[in-house]
Amino acid sequence: MMKEDLEKIQAEALEKIQNSDALEKLNEIRVAYLGKKGELKQVLKGMKDVAPEDRPKVGEMVNKAREIIESKLEETKKKLEEAAREKKLAAEVIDVTLPAKRIKLGHRHPNTIALEEVERIFIGMGYEVVSGPEVEYDYYNFEALNIPANHPAKDEQDTFYITNDILLRTQTSSVQVHEMEKGRLPIKMISPGRVFRSDEVDATHSPSFHQIEGLVIDKNITFSDLKGTLAQFAKELFGEDTKVKFRPHHFPFTEPSAEVDVSCFKCHGKGCRMCKGSGWIEILGCGMVHPHVLEMRGIDPNEYTGFAFGVGLERIALLKYEIDDMRLMYENDVRFLKQF
Ligand code: DAH
Repeated sequence: MMKEDLEKIQAEALEKIQNSDALEKLNEIRVAYLGKKGELKQVLKGMKDVAPEDRPKVGEMVNKAREIIESKLEETKKKLEEAAREKKLAAEVIDVTLPAKRIKLGHRHPNTIALEEVERIFIGMGYEVVSGPEVEYDYYNFEALNIPANHPAKDEQDTFYITNDILLRTQTSSVQVHEMEKGRLPIKMISPGRVFRSDEVDATHSPSFHQIEGLVIDKNITFSDLKGTLAQFAKELFGEDTKVKFRPHHFPFTEPSAEVDVSCFKCHGKGCRMCKGSGWIEILGCGMVHPHVLEMRGIDPNEYTGFAFGVGLERIALLKYEIDDMRLMYENDVRFLKQF
């Protein structure tokens, strides 16, 4: 009788456990069957009606039932906990295959890239990089560079004047004068910077652009030093097989003066659109520092000689990156800038 009751209770408990889908329900079942007032306790209370010799047997049966129910509870608890964990993990899952948002990186302006390249080359040859003022006295921009008042070269460079003798520099050559004024010799410098001319904007002109000036003054500096320096510069900038050609020219602050062409790095001299069919591309002006320029700064031209050169930064960048319109350099259109 007792045995049947127990079996019934056990079966009932196991079924309830089996069907429970939440941890709280398991707890309720535990209380209902194994608790102080639970079903099994009730059975034990009925022990007094059991014959004494049968009591150990019944006690054992009750314990057995308790063990079975307990272990089923434990097992189901584990299963439910595991299921809850899986559910939580599934909800928190990160899809690592989902493409991430692309972080937009800034780009260096082609002018900046070209400038860093030019600086790298000259620093490698032992040059110092210096800067000078963009607002200048007429004296530094013209007079001390052997371009006196009424000199036709003054009209060639359409100048923005601020007052009669203050202007926006038209050329970085003005920095040559500042360097000589420091009174330290020898000089071996390049000076990149912005220059201004009242030009109309078009594909090759802008009222503001950049130049890089070069100046070397020392004892025994000759034209071959200039030639070797610029040949090396051209090779490093445009490629090892680049040739240079010096064409006689005139600048007031150098004597003799030259314009330098490089062999076209695109067609290697055969003639293409880049070099307008000639095989050569003009890149800079240069010459031996005019003795009068040295004298004006108190440097004895019999003791010291020097060379100078001036190169347009935009021109280098346009050539190197095959950009066909200088206006692109100033419009700051992201579609253009992000290509570099
Ligand atoms: N200043 C000249 C210009 O703007 C460029 C130049 C030519 C600079 C010859 C030099 C040089 O130092 O020697 O056109």
